[in-house]
Amino acid sequence: MVNGRENWASKIGFVLAAAGSAVGLGNIWRFPYVTGEHGGAAFLIIYLIAIVLIGYPVMVTEISLGRSTQKNPVGAFKALAPNTSWWLVGALGVLTGFVILSYYSVIAGWSLAFMVNSLGGFPQGIEAAEELFMGHITGVGTPILYHAIFMVLTAGIIAAGVVKGIQRAVQFLMPILAILLVLVVLRSLTLEGAGEGLAFLFAPDFGAVTGNTFLSAVGQAFFTLSLGMGAILTYGSYLSNKDEIPGSAAQIIGFDTGLAIVAGLAIFPAFFALIGTEEVAMESVGLVFITLPAVFAEMPMGTIFGFLFFLLLSIAALTSAISLLEVVVAYVIDEHHWPRTMAAVVVGAIIFVVGIPPILGYSTWDGFSFAGMDILDTYDFFADSIFLPLGGVLTSIFAGHVWGTRNVIEEANRGNVSFRVGYWISPLLKYVIPLGVFVVMVFGVLEALGIIG
Ligand code: TRP
Repeated sequence: MVNGRENWASKIGFVLAAAGSAVGLGNIWRFPYVTGEHGGAAFLIIYLIAIVLIGYPVMVTEISLGRSTQKNPVGAFKALAPNTSWWLVGALGVLTGFVILSYYSVIAGWSLAFMVNSLGGFPQGIEAAEELFMGHITGVGTPILYHAIFMVLTAGIIAAGVVKGIQRAVQFLMPILAILLVLVVLRSLTLEGAGEGLAFLFAPDFGAVTGNTFLSAVGQAFFTLSLGMGAILTYGSYLSNKDEIPGSAAQIIGFDTGLAIVAGLAIFPAFFALIGTEEVAMESVGLVFITLPAVFAEMPMGTIFGFLFFLLLSIAALTSAISLLEVVVAYVIDEHHWPRTMAAVVVGAIIFVVGIPPILGYSTWDGFSFAGMDILDTYDFFADSIFLPLGGVLTSIFAGHVWGTRNVIEEANRGNVSFRVGYWISPLLKYVIPLGVFVVMVFGVLEALGIIG
């Protein structure tokens, strides 16, 4: 322990917590529909390249920044570059955590609601499924109630502490998640007609690729790996000097990427087997909430699998949400000396309130539109297409040019490492990631807003 800061109770604690942060709605809710939107396998290839070239170096950097400073994102930048404005990068991260968790919890609330509804069986047919989903999200009281329940669970775990809260929760929940996913995938792959879904996921159609595809792939890479806002940095700050960084980062990324593909294996075969190629809900936030219930309604033992699926989605969301809240909580604990419980409760309550507009965006405030997006999509767009890539660019510029890649490499290779990070990381952090991500971000945003064609 340094400065009395809590450390993970074991090496597996950190890896599980970070993997729990990474694996979430991003893998199971977001990855399939974004992949559907951008042509399946072609998107998958670009996304995998982004994971290797950008995801791995940024993850190693964030963990190293956290461990070497033993601080929250704001404190980490302050410690390494005192009397400069670099702490603003940490502050951007804390702000991003607020925004992401507020709508993340709304979607997680949909998942909880569907888990409960699944017990009564889902209605037959895609129209009925669409009606069920629209009926739920255009409500006010019920979505707010489930959003509140989810925030209470999240804040409860964070209030209990790093080891007694976060580590205990992930050690209990992650194995359950893995078992549930295997069950759902086996069911999906054994449906008649599953092959078309596999072809969609693995046979590329480059015709669907545009500038925005690259931004979506980069944004998805940051989102799914929990990078670009200091969440992994914060978890790294509880890592001891004995534990290794290079191998842990590889394990976390391997786990997350494997899980996204496996989630695709659960969703696309079922989609094509039971719904066919009707483009119906393929490209929307509703993919897993509309398509899958329709699939469960027709599938033998569908009620059980429906329940298990939404239980899985809720668990995955919870182990991610705690990492988002921990960033903000660690900040107020370290920098403003709040007690942990008060921090978890107050911050959780504020985030709950910030999450109400995205809910109202489907009913009372459905007149709202920003470049054709509703409130929830707008939050997601700012977080995923602007804040996270920007945070990632600034973090790698900082590591490459201010803290210095020698320090990154030295910190990353400390302890009992199974392999070492080499100097190859240096050009990536200094030039490739800042320039690459920045260009992709500018063109992607201009295209998404309809400013360029
Ligand atoms: N990675 C999580 C997912 O895929 C979401 C998440 C948790 C996240 N913490 C984050 C995204 C930090 C960005 C930054 O669902």
